[in-house]
Amino acid sequence: MSKLTAQTLVIATHNAGKLREIAALLAPYGVECISAGSLGLPEPAETGKTFADNALIKARAAAEAAQLPALADDSGLCVEALGGAPGVYTADWAERQWFEGPPGRDWYMAMGKVEGLLCELGPHVDRSCHFACVLALAWPDGTSAVYEGRAEGTYSWPPRGTMGFGYDPVFVPRGGTQTFAELDPEEKHRISHRADAFAKLVAAQFGG
Ligand code: IMP
Repeated sequence: MSKLTAQTLVIATHNAGKLREIAALLAPYGVECISAGSLGLPEPAETGKTFADNALIKARAAAEAAQLPALADDSGLCVEALGGAPGVYTADWAERQWFEGPPGRDWYMAMGKVEGLLCELGPHVDRSCHFACVLALAWPDGTSAVYEGRAEGTYSWPPRGTMGFGYDPVFVPRGGTQTFAELDPEEKHRISHRADAFAKLVAAQFGG
């Protein structure tokens, strides 16, 4: 298996917030992160059917174009009673249709769609769900590695809390009572699907 050494890593994102978060997590290991956006790399279409497919599509495209190792992530919410939906389409479910207002994403509408589907299944429906995060590393020689993190929880209605983003106001992590949007961000980052995936990557790449 290829391993990361102290070197430059391309982060296959055009999102400055994600780059900052990932760069801070990898700085202690001597890895310098640069974003695909700053290198002017194109964003490939996320046509995969799984989180791993999409993360690998993004990581491989960046590694090939930059001729450097690259890291990409893909994440979303999976509701068990809905067969894992919205899953890889989590962000798409928030996309407004022309009759729903100005173009853009509406997370409250998306959370309401999930709640509507759960209600159709009856008052005693299983509200188990999980957030998934897959990190993919790809090297210019074609090798790759994938790390999957999960945060298990319950879909809670109505939405509560003002912190975080996306579906945080409806997600109550297992064993807790507050939603991700009510939790202190540090506490969320300690138990999140992203933290779980990063712990696995760090153990495999930099562990003993
Ligand atoms: P992507 O991985 O950037 O494509 O994100 C997929 C979508 O999943 C995001 O736009 C969010 O709506 C949702 N999502 C992923 N992680 C979280 C999280 O930690 N909290 C809330 N929503 C999340």
